[in-house]
Amino acid sequence: MAVLPLTVLGHPILRQATTPVTVVTDELRRLADDMIDTMRAADGVGLAAPQVGRSERLCVVEVGETLLTLFNPEIIAREGKIKWEEGCLSIPDVFGWVERSAQVTVRALDRDGTPFEVTGTELLGVCLQHEIDHLDGKLFIDHLSFLKRRSAMADWDEQKGKYPNQIRVLPAAPATTVAHGEHDHDQRL
Ligand code: NI
Repeated sequence: MAVLPLTVLGHPILRQATTPVTVVTDELRRLADDMIDTMRAADGVGLAAPQVGRSERLCVVEVGETLLTLFNPEIIAREGKIKWEEGCLSIPDVFGWVERSAQVTVRALDRDGTPFEVTGTELLGVCLQHEIDHLDGKLFIDHLSFLKRRSAMADWDEQKGKYPNQIRVLPAAPATTVAHGEHDHDQRL
């Protein structure tokens, strides 16, 4: 178990599509465990493999009591619309309102390589869509209008100098424990 460095905006791997996993090996289970450690160290609710410099189609999600490891996730059903103020562990301190499906059903393989389905709404639904976007080389800023995206990129220009070589090194444990209700937007995706 380990906390891994995160890639941030500008790192090319964040823009590359991932490769489906054919067999869930012990090495990939260890990677998923490290991603869970990393997500928690960043006070996150989701993390996708490209954010730790890997190209497998794998993400982890933890919303409330729900902890999921998803290999090869695909959205198989969508319903309704919702707007959510999103951020991203790979674009720290930048936020934007994104329109998503209000409810999604995702099919994936679990840690044992067994297919399962999960349906999510609100933060879980938004998080599933945000992480699956990562696996297709997409970021939440891609969903913003031209002007909002330009404003978000101006915010990022003030932040990016903190991350040499597009790498964000996390402390091994969260510096503070912030109750999720205290966030007024989601910088945890
Ligand atoms: Ni993200």
